[in-house]
Amino acid sequence: MTSNADEGAFWAGPAGAKWIEFEAEQDHFLSEVAHAVVGMAGLRAGERALDVGCGTGAVSLLAAKDVGPTGHVLATDIAAPFVDRVAERAQALPQVGVQLGDAQTVDWPETPFDVALSRFGVMFFSDPVAAFTNIAKALRPGGRMAFAAWGRTEDNPYWAEPRRIIEEMIGPQNRAAPNAPGPMGLADAVWAQDQMTQAGLKDVAVDTREIPLLHEGGAMGAADLSLRIGPAVRPLREIDATPEQVAAYKAQTAQAFQSYETGGQARIPATVHLFSARV
Ligand SMILES: C[S@@+](CC[C@H](N)C(=O)[O-])C[C@H]1O[C@@H](n2cnc3c(N)ncnc32)[C@H](O)[C@@H]1O
Repeated sequence: MTSNADEGAFWAGPAGAKWIEFEAEQDHFLSEVAHAVVGMAGLRAGERALDVGCGTGAVSLLAAKDVGPTGHVLATDIAAPFVDRVAERAQALPQVGVQLGDAQTVDWPETPFDVALSRFGVMFFSDPVAAFTNIAKALRPGGRMAFAAWGRTEDNPYWAEPRRIIEEMIGPQNRAAPNAPGPMGLADAVWAQDQMTQAGLKDVAVDTREIPLLHEGGAMGAADLSLRIGPAVRPLREIDATPEQVAAYKAQTAQAFQSYETGGQARIPATVHLFSARV
């Protein structure tokens, strides 16, 4: 069994703390993706769902509404601060439980589940086949999966524009190897589906959609968010960016996002793969 311990350490550190600190803003930003993945999961009242890589629990909370008080949602994540946060947010929802664990290796006790779902929690596996096999083990025969993952950087302005601007400012950056664990780890949908098939899943399919990312602070709000969570965090930290560089980055990124702003709201089109499969 391969563990994903490096990811656990990463998310339990400052990166995860930012997700918790800016939870409301990030939840709104990614809300349309949450609705898309929960919609694809097609949860019914009384069903049992497993939210893999639950983060602060936006998808778990939505799924909890669909399964209702007779159903169950287990929110599971490799980083303890996240499962603690979901437990706090779901205090009034007895149908939500939490469990700490690495999806590649954990033994979820309350099996079987009808559905496993995730928004952006399944691209970080060092061994995707091991993870999908382990998730499949937790589902009943015929159980289904619905996972959202980012498409290619080039097709996602929220990722491509920061990269372009940072590279113009400080030169070429190391780029992740194709299919390496990370935000774009399942961006190659053909490869990703092959990993799922190798895990023994059936009816593996992808529905690639354009889904808007929403920011009520407009282009500047989205540029600011990209500094705290996501695209610009790692490169600017690696070069120990000066306040002037950060300010220049923010101004240029806001300008790049300007065409997506209407009436003060930014709607940045994102290319998202919605993967589905059955056990
Ligand atoms: C980009 S965040 C998404 C969080 C949440 N699903 C959301 O959409 O708000 C990725 C999440 O995957 C979790 N994760 C990464 N590798 C994991 C693994 N091997 N097992 C379980 N969770 C993992 C991280 O701790 C983090 O919470």
